[in-house]
Amino acid sequence: MVERLAALRETIAYHAARYHRDDDPEIADAEYDALVLELRQLEEAHPELAAATSPTELVGATPSGLFSPVRHAVAMMSLDNVFSREELAQWGLRLERVLERVEEGAAARARYVGEPKIDGLALSLRYESGRLVTAATRGDGRVGEDVTDNVRTIAAIPQQLALDAAATPEIFEVRGEVYLPISAFEELNRRQAEAGLRLFVNPRNSAAGSLRQKDPAVTASRPLGFFAYQLGEVDGGVVGRRGEALTSHHQSLELLVRCGFTVNDLIESFDSLEGVAAFCEGLEQRRHELDYEIDGVVVKLDDLALQRAAGATSHAPRWAIAYKFPPEERTTLLEDIEVSIGRTGRATPFARMTPVFVGGSTVQLASLHNEDQVRAKDVRPGDTVLVHKAGDVIPEVVAPVLSLRPASSVPWEFPRTCPACGTELLRLEGESDTYCVNAECPAQRVQRIVHFAGRSAMDIEGLGESRVIQLVRAGLVSDVADLYSLEQDQLESLEGFASLSAANLLSGIEASKSRGLSRLLVALSIRHVGPTVASALSGEFADLDELAAASELRFAAIEGVGPTIATAIAAFFAEAPNQEVLEKLRRGGVSFASDRVLGETGLPKVLAGRSVVVSGTLSGFTREEAEAAIIGRGGKSPGSVSARTYALVLGAEPGASKLARAEQLGVPILDEAAFARLLESGELVPSTG
Ligand code: IVH
Repeated sequence: MVERLAALRETIAYHAARYHRDDDPEIADAEYDALVLELRQLEEAHPELAAATSPTELVGATPSGLFSPVRHAVAMMSLDNVFSREELAQWGLRLERVLERVEEGAAARARYVGEPKIDGLALSLRYESGRLVTAATRGDGRVGEDVTDNVRTIAAIPQQLALDAAATPEIFEVRGEVYLPISAFEELNRRQAEAGLRLFVNPRNSAAGSLRQKDPAVTASRPLGFFAYQLGEVDGGVVGRRGEALTSHHQSLELLVRCGFTVNDLIESFDSLEGVAAFCEGLEQRRHELDYEIDGVVVKLDDLALQRAAGATSHAPRWAIAYKFPPEERTTLLEDIEVSIGRTGRATPFARMTPVFVGGSTVQLASLHNEDQVRAKDVRPGDTVLVHKAGDVIPEVVAPVLSLRPASSVPWEFPRTCPACGTELLRLEGESDTYCVNAECPAQRVQRIVHFAGRSAMDIEGLGESRVIQLVRAGLVSDVADLYSLEQDQLESLEGFASLSAANLLSGIEASKSRGLSRLLVALSIRHVGPTVASALSGEFADLDELAAASELRFAAIEGVGPTIATAIAAFFAEAPNQEVLEKLRRGGVSFASDRVLGETGLPKVLAGRSVVVSGTLSGFTREEAEAAIIGRGGKSPGSVSARTYALVLGAEPGASKLARAEQLGVPILDEAAFARLLESGELVPSTG
């Protein structure tokens, strides 16, 4: 037990330093919190073993020495956490008992303020006679780091309080959180990747990294935001002698707004803890709609006199609590890195992990995208890795936990040959992707057929990946055109096929023969040709034969096509094996006629002439399928929102800029259910949130 205590203290101190001092945490916040909780419980059970130097008594980490130290006039305390509604209620009861002892009836009068807990970096700003004189990080809570020069470059932080001279306090300390908007974080990492630099793990770390720079010009180049949420030492002017004119927290927030600070607009006051609990749940639901990360809700007792009466423990006030959202990051073992071959031959590395429950589902596989991404993250087989869900849906390996890396570990090498056919893999200069260039590669073949049959392409019901593998293995199909010569008895001889399922598959294949040119073009896996380009092409040519005979220049002249795409299309039709497949498709009875000639896709053109933008991940459609569904109904699906956009369809983890732009322009915003209705009837029923 004593060993466990010592080990916990050491581990926590290590991770606290990684987080606070180095801005480079190794483990998930939730796991850190769990360690602290275990230590706190041990210490509570054995008070004789408590130590003033225990991490439970400290806030943050000692400063790094990069910046001059600043002693905080009023300590910057940490907050205790609760993780459920029950724990929140228990905290409330404890607090109310304390208040009741101070003054009868105080508990019943108590009001609370609920604030989003911004996942950024705490700052203390000191204004003297209205002018910003020092900006300091939290550090260990008593002594922080002087980051004044950097903070002066942040537009969201006033240099001067916006009060009349008479109202201006002599001393006014503002506490709040610096953060990097999620959209800015994504943009920053795009640039880091382009420049071959290390990627930031999350917006919090990039905000901290942006602020703790030796060169203020770097800070200035990052669009940092600041939410003010608390006062420190105050004296004089509107706040009166030592702030005695202020009686409640919500007054402090109103004053901060008057002074020119941004106070988060989701903050609300409540006269009971039930209201606070509902607020916590509401924010948890909406956390992904925001362009900044929040990891919980901070609940504060509103009355300042009652706050003083409730007091604080050595590290945290009793009058406030952090209600933490359930963890969305976990660590697990990265068992191996494998490479999958897609329909275009692209070799995508992916992580195979010990299954772990994160963000609402169990994750075992996660794409690592390409060779550079693996190198930038430096993840290796055998590593313990941090996993989260990007946008609640797509699992992502965030980073390795270096302190747990086995001594024998070596960097992962991209395989030199294709795992499916053994052909040497090729990575062209200046490209980030690696390819298997063997057109006969069985893995590519399977993926091309799966794509051909997919919903955005020929939409063949009942033909998914496992059936395609079965057909290819049985030697019945080796390219997409072979599907059209399949026969009932061939299918019936396969495992898992009865006469009805064989007949159903054949009728699905039959129905796909007249999907029209644009779906056929999507289905053929021509590089760069998705639903939008395919529909532009289909509008220009009467049929596939006319298109196949056209020149690269003619393609490039079509709106929305451009030179790179034109080259790819021309190259596709110039290749002999592709010409053979087209001939086989023709013989198999597949219509080459353009959508126009065929009387289009047969779908009602409820979106004729309208632009519908899709953002984020939908559960029932891939991005391509959603685009195809819009185009199939006569609409367009551009990549950005403009004043002409008819509606924005929002999936999970949408792009913040699209959402903001739609809101600004008053473009109707649809959830997936409303999108389905739109596709069916063209009816616009915006989601209510
Ligand atoms: S109040 C004594 N309000 O959470 C009160 N903190 O875990 C101390 N934080 O150090 C802070 N949003 O970095 C407060 N609305 C909010 C906050 C907030 C984020 C951070 C802050 C603090 C940490 C405590």
